[in-house]
Amino acid sequence: MAKSKKKPRARERIRPKKASPSPGIGTKKELSISAIDEGTVIDHIPTDATFKVAEILELENHEGVVSIATNLKSKSIGRKGIVKVAGKSLTQEQVNKISIVAPNATVNIIKNYEVREKINVKSPDVIDNVVKCSNPVCITNNEQVPTKFYVVKKDPLRIKCHYCERSMGKEDIKII
Ligand code: CTP
Ligand code: ZN
Repeated sequence: MAKSKKKPRARERIRPKKASPSPGIGTKKELSISAIDEGTVIDHIPTDATFKVAEILELENHEGVVSIATNLKSKSIGRKGIVKVAGKSLTQEQVNKISIVAPNATVNIIKNYEVREKINVKSPDVIDNVVKCSNPVCITNNEQVPTKFYVVKKDPLRIKCHYCERSMGKEDIKII
């Protein structure tokens, strides 16, 4: 006797799973970013500089937890970004770079879940080897010469190349 054709089993059909509501929904509208036990939190970053800050920190191979949040509501600056990096302390060079893209950022050093130190970054008067000159014929783009800029205005940031005198605003600034 010929076997009857197998009917497709109901189990094979793809059924959307119902998501079980998470306990917070309905009672708490925002989910906060987890606190970290040890590491660095960069807070009060202008929204549009959040990913630049993450880039400055070179986190691609970092093994600790990294949380990046942007467009968060802030009382002081309207909207802000936060970058939290567990298990990392910043170098002075990284703090200097952050000050260029996020002049009002706060760098919090966390130890044992507590804020041990709070550093307000400050735009330096001279920026050494952090920003690329936007002038293609500038010596810094053609020879092995480190860039150097003078801060002409802090807010909004305007800087001037020491070598070719090119004046650059926030929109032209590229971190080396
Ligand atoms: N933070 C964290 N993990 C901790 C402690 C603090 O991620 N264990 C974060 C907080 O979420 C906050 C930042 O570190 O984004 C600074 O913490 P805190 O000084 O407690 O917050 P504020 O008083 O709001 O800081 P500020 O006065 O700089 O706005
Ligand atoms: Zn130049």
